[in-house]
Amino acid sequence: MLQSVQSALADRFALTRLWNEPVGDNWLAEHGGKVRGLAVSTLAGRIDAGLLHRLPALEIIASFGVGTDNIDLAAARARRITVTNTAGTLDDEVADFTVGLLIATLRRIPQADAWLRAGNWRHGSFPLTSTLRGRKVGVVGLGAIGKAVARRLEAFGIELAYHGRQRQEGVAFPWHPSITALAKACDTLIVVVPGGGETRHLIDGQVLAALGANGVLINIARGSVVDQPALIAALATGTILAAGLDVFADEPDVPDALLKLPNAVLLPHVGSGSMVTREAMGACVVANLVSWFDGKGALTPV
Ligand code: 8YV
Repeated sequence: MLQSVQSALADRFALTRLWNEPVGDNWLAEHGGKVRGLAVSTLAGRIDAGLLHRLPALEIIASFGVGTDNIDLAAARARRITVTNTAGTLDDEVADFTVGLLIATLRRIPQADAWLRAGNWRHGSFPLTSTLRGRKVGVVGLGAIGKAVARRLEAFGIELAYHGRQRQEGVAFPWHPSITALAKACDTLIVVVPGGGETRHLIDGQVLAALGANGVLINIARGSVVDQPALIAALATGTILAAGLDVFADEPDVPDALLKLPNAVLLPHVGSGSMVTREAMGACVVANLVSWFDGKGALTPV
């Protein structure tokens, strides 16, 4: 957790840095009954019914991030525990990053950088690449981040379509009721849906086959949304052209087979990872906890 968040929380509350507790289980057994609030990173492991059971006085879980798939929301709801995220703090940052990753993947920017550093320029030219020009991009999940991505791509003159649970009013580009229909209609998919059981392996081998040989997959959402072995096979056999991934099935493990693929740009889950945005996310976590314990309710409940 950011130093600024730790300091702000320590100023206001009795703070225990659970990751510092050598035997977390013992600490929970002894002190768990006194814990009234939790500040958690979305990547810090699962907040499940078992953990909640050991925190009988817990009132609020303030999550550092927008995704809450690491929290058993049903178990929290059953206990009337409020869960907050950092909605509204990172949409533009992640959308900027997504467009960057899309162009990096199509124009092979990281590969060209590595090629230059390896001393190849004196001996030839970097191979020509695919392009964003003329692409038809399908946005998978038209929430706040999906819309921010779409606005940017509209300004780039790109034809768009989307898939989500339902058609949304006031969206100028077409909705496809199934992910396969969207993949068939497009040559590029950008995954921006929440993770969790409902979207698990939404992008599977069949969807990748529908996307086709010129197809590009960008995933900045959650690794769980994509059937990773199917994606590796699709990239290796030319079923699709390329992928840009900021998230993986089993972070921080990235399979060797993926690392070896020349047509994948792989990043360590850094979509929201600018200093300014992470500080804004941290301030939102603190503001939620302070507001809650001031008796004013949560600011960004999910
Ligand atoms: C992480 C994210 O929160 O917001 C999310 O859901 O995945 C990221 O912004 C961030 O990497 C810190 O855990």
